[in-house]
Amino acid sequence: MSVAPTCRLCAGPVHQWMDLGRQPASNSFPRPDETGAERFFRLAVGICADCTMVQQLEAMPTDHMFRADYPYRSSTSDGLSRHFEEVAGWLRRTELTGHTDLVVEIGCNDGVMLGALGAAGVRHLGVDPSAGAARDAALRGAEVRVSFFDEAAAIAIRAERGPARVVFSANTISHVADIATVFRGVDRLLTPDGVFVFEDRYVGDIVEYAYFDQIYDEHFYLFSVRAVDAMATRFGFELVDVERISIHGGSLRFTVARPGARPRRDSVTRMIDDEARYAIGEYETYRRFARQIDRVGTDLVALLTDLRAAGRRVVGYGATSKSATVTNYCGIGPDLVPFICDTTPEKQGRLSPGMHIPVRPHAAFVDPYPDYALLFAWNHAEEIMLKERRFTAQGGRWILYVPQVHVV
Ligand code: TYD
Ligand code: ZN
Repeated sequence: MSVAPTCRLCAGPVHQWMDLGRQPASNSFPRPDETGAERFFRLAVGICADCTMVQQLEAMPTDHMFRADYPYRSSTSDGLSRHFEEVAGWLRRTELTGHTDLVVEIGCNDGVMLGALGAAGVRHLGVDPSAGAARDAALRGAEVRVSFFDEAAAIAIRAERGPARVVFSANTISHVADIATVFRGVDRLLTPDGVFVFEDRYVGDIVEYAYFDQIYDEHFYLFSVRAVDAMATRFGFELVDVERISIHGGSLRFTVARPGARPRRDSVTRMIDDEARYAIGEYETYRRFARQIDRVGTDLVALLTDLRAAGRRVVGYGATSKSATVTNYCGIGPDLVPFICDTTPEKQGRLSPGMHIPVRPHAAFVDPYPDYALLFAWNHAEEIMLKERRFTAQGGRWILYVPQVHVV
């Protein structure tokens, strides 16, 4: 019998429940002359039998994922921008009541949240390895240190600016396989009564709605409340609050503090109880999910193949990171989807990771409209479908593949 790999957090045995095959770095959009240099890894996911953390079995190296030219920009979605502005307002009302409080954001990208804090005169610093995103953040008035966040970075920041009242992060903590160094950094940086607040996709929603494309290189961990609670304790902190938020199809906002520094809210135990009821920490739940993923993949390829045979034009909408999983797992290339439209200038003129579907500006979608749009950015469905009313009004239809393949 082969020995199970060990959990990155607790060294317990990790049981694989799905292998999504050979996959590229999901945000690495090669130029047409760069396709030979792409790096691939095996995207396999498992669950730890001890702490129940869902995690990948092999990691794509971080220096390959988060480079200076990392193309993702939070601000391309109005919904996300609004959300991060609200986070800034919420932090100001609840935590940043002293005039000199410092906020550090891990993975601040183009600085929507920090720009809003900066405009309100709040002391802040973003930490992000992407120089391009940091430049965009600077244009919003946000100050950024271009680096990964680890213990050494935290020591340097503390020496320069003193302790932080709030360490915030959105959609980043789950990306770091060596999460221990993040917590050591937070420990170095946080005031005795400060909080570490992080938002990330919720594995409970991913399983419930079969959001299988949330599994890609960057999402090294898929968080449950139970597993994050155990993780915080292991690293010398306490999970004191958890809140559901609608971002990215269903996320959680975790609040972590030093043990005893803050009262622990009922939300934590309530959600851990709910997760037990829905068997979120159990291997069998994920095996069922894996069978569902197989079915969706088969159905999607069948639909696209039928549409091509019928002479229908299908265009991808949103060159999301998530779409790397879908296209590479299903083997969907330019023969089935000739191009993907995306509003991010950094992605346009490039090719989708692995399957090399060209990425074109939004104008290519409009003129002429295709018969079908395959909505890779399904998490922004409301915003996009509203914006594209004319597409549907003149007979265009949307293809969605979560929680199953359907046409609307
Ligand atoms: P998103 O779903 O936020 O993230 P992820 O990469 O984590 O899966 O990415 C949305 C992508 O879709 C991004 O590349 C911008 C693009 N997009 C459009 O092209 N048009 C739109 O109207 C919106 C909202 C997004
Ligand atoms: Zn574990």
